[in-house]
Amino acid sequence: MKLGIVFCSTLVFSFAPAWAADIPHLQKQGTATQLIVDGKPFLALAGELHNSSATSLEYMQPVWPKLAEAKLNTVIAGVSWNQIEPQEGKFDFSVLDGVIRDARSHSLRLVLIWFASWKNALSSYPPDWVKKDFKRFPRIQVQSGKTIELLSTLSDANRDADARAFAALMRHVKQVDGQQHTVILIQVENEVNVIGDTRDRSPVANKAFEGPVPKDLMDYLQKHKDALISEFRQVWETAGFKTSGTWEEVFGKGVATDQAFMAWNYARYVGRVAEAGKAEYPLPMYVNAAVMPFARVQPPANAHSGGPLAQLMDVWRAGGPQIDILSPDIYGNDDFFVSTTASFSRSGNPLFIPESNGGREGATRALYAFGRHNAVGFSPFGIDGSRAPDTDLTSGYDLIAQLAPLILAHQGTDTMSAVLLGQNNPSQKIQVGNYTLEAAALRPRAMPGAPPPQATLPSAAAIFIAVGPDEYFVAGSGMTVSFSPHTPGPSLAGLSTVEEGSFVNGRWVPGRQLAGDETGQGDYLSLRNLGIQHVTLYRYE
Ligand code: DGJ
Repeated sequence: MKLGIVFCSTLVFSFAPAWAADIPHLQKQGTATQLIVDGKPFLALAGELHNSSATSLEYMQPVWPKLAEAKLNTVIAGVSWNQIEPQEGKFDFSVLDGVIRDARSHSLRLVLIWFASWKNALSSYPPDWVKKDFKRFPRIQVQSGKTIELLSTLSDANRDADARAFAALMRHVKQVDGQQHTVILIQVENEVNVIGDTRDRSPVANKAFEGPVPKDLMDYLQKHKDALISEFRQVWETAGFKTSGTWEEVFGKGVATDQAFMAWNYARYVGRVAEAGKAEYPLPMYVNAAVMPFARVQPPANAHSGGPLAQLMDVWRAGGPQIDILSPDIYGNDDFFVSTTASFSRSGNPLFIPESNGGREGATRALYAFGRHNAVGFSPFGIDGSRAPDTDLTSGYDLIAQLAPLILAHQGTDTMSAVLLGQNNPSQKIQVGNYTLEAAALRPRAMPGAPPPQATLPSAAAIFIAVGPDEYFVAGSGMTVSFSPHTPGPSLAGLSTVEEGSFVNGRWVPGRQLAGDETGQGDYLSLRNLGIQHVTLYRYE
């Protein structure tokens, strides 16, 4: 087996200065962006804790070993502003220190969520000294002048208080973890967006909205005009591609303009918070979006205005260049997962999925995200919840961990891809290496005497890695896979050898040799239960 892949770029993201080259950072490999931890690319097989779990070391004691046994290598845990800065300027990191220590002792990495100005739109996590001083720390207003418990994006006092606390947090993380790198990635805020209206309608917001679109945004849009995310470019184009004017003059009147206005203001604010943290310790940082199927976005009350949605990627990039990744939280069905991962993988945005489903769905979605979109991480939400132990997720993470060296070596090349077959998408053809692979969803086995089942097996996904001209590793479940050549030479393909097996310490250990009924008499691979198969092919006329 010959890999022949070289790491071809050392471009460092995250504004990491040269002295910090060994701290976790993002690095390009081909078309992919990888997360480098302790000098090596890393796939985060993660799980996000419930919001309040990591506020108590006692609560977490029985949880840590379960997470390690469940084959996670990374845990996403919240750090709340009110817990670390109960009085202005007085910080208490004792719980965080325990969380880092306990994660480390279970060989788990951490992603920290900075629950600060906003969490699921609202401002429930700032300390009381912020919440009570509503004159110094203003809130937004919606229609009819109603105030919402949601800190204004347009207040320097709000932003600077958050940024000071975040800087203190990152300074502390550097002190306690700058050498060991248990903490590998930071989420700044959580699912920001306006609720109750399409935008802030406080006097200060109205004034900004009626003023000119900031020059920095206009310059960015003009510079990147031909590479803008198509949905947003369309909004600008429909309004005439104007290069100056008020928000409604440049982008037209409507929800899309209100969303862009809020996105700009959130990005400016969150970007400055991230910048203050990176000045202390420049770990890679992401923001997450509550992504909803279009039908569930219902303006004006529920317009998801301002969140880092894929269609607003350019506005976020222009306003918050300090943020490395815009991440989708993806619930919903597999078709929605496929479309959302595609839309967030545009324009060079690395894919990190902090929230999704667990179970069998989680296992197959993770495989798909790593193989198809070069994801740096995948995480079901509520990993310490009542579902535990999540044996399906554990099997999936175990399989991905076996494949991780191969996946990491092939990310960013055309020798690896993946499919996730959804309800609207029961078969798919895809080119990988020298062959076109056709994946078709399996149906559940018919019961004796019962009519043939109509449904496909749930969560059918597979990853395909070409490790030679006629040689593949294929891993997944719920489908058959057939091969046809697309390079010059004989036009038909046959299965030469098919082995099931596993990787043990990076070495392939074959199990059964599959043929006969297990390969459709040599016609296709059959992936019923989650597993890995090693395939060699021949060609004939
Ligand atoms: C999305 C949020 O980002 C999480 O913190 C959590 O509140 C979940 N929703 C709950 O389903």
